[in-house]
Amino acid sequence: MSAEKTAIREKYKSLRKRLSREEVLAKSRRIKKLLFELPEFDQAKTVAFYVAKRESHEVETEEMIKETLKLGKRVLVPVVDGVKILFSDLRDYDSELAPGTFGVPEPKPLFRRPVPVSESDLIVVPGVAFDCRGYRLGYGGGYYDRLLREASLTRPSLSSVGLGYELQIVEKLPVTAEDVPVDILVTEKRVLRF
Ligand SMILES: Nc1ncnc2c1ncn2[C@@H]1O[C@H](COP(=O)(O)OP(=O)(O)O)[C@@H](O)[C@H]1O
Ligand SMILES: [Mg+2]
Repeated sequence: MSAEKTAIREKYKSLRKRLSREEVLAKSRRIKKLLFELPEFDQAKTVAFYVAKRESHEVETEEMIKETLKLGKRVLVPVVDGVKILFSDLRDYDSELAPGTFGVPEPKPLFRRPVPVSESDLIVVPGVAFDCRGYRLGYGGGYYDRLLREASLTRPSLSSVGLGYELQIVEKLPVTAEDVPVDILVTEKRVLRF
């Protein structure tokens, strides 16, 4: 456990908490527009999204997921299974999800359709903070580090894109050899490529 990471995590979690729901939704709409303009998104047939937990004020992915499904792309969403993230094919946002591990909406057991992460063309990654090299700070479980490592081994061409608010960007995060950076970061103001 890194005390330095813990302190940064707490700071950025509380900064994000100050955003109103309206601000979250407005910024998330801008982020959605920039995400949908990426060639990686355009070309992706299967997109793995995180599902935002509303109370955490994460960049909201509900509209992104619904619109991606409307575009005819396959959407995968995470199911936490022990220390691993597994992905499930989501067909309908409104009816198939219910709060699961950590209170994050996950597909209900009846709607679980497991798909290996290597079948996704693009992974959309949440974060508490991101830095100018693409490194990210999560909630401290290392879930996305393990996932991105596995994904890059099984599907080297797969792209990862972090979604964050401009206020979540720091110059340099403390990292260990296990931290995996994202390829692209989208904020409400810009797209950063690493
Ligand atoms: N590929 C991996 N294999 C095993 N453990 C990992 C791996 N990646 C990260 N971890 C572990 O997960 C824990 C949390 O990682 P950390 O980077 O602090 O969290 P987060 O990325 O969620 O902010 C650490 O103990 C780290 O060693
Ligand atoms: Mg990490």
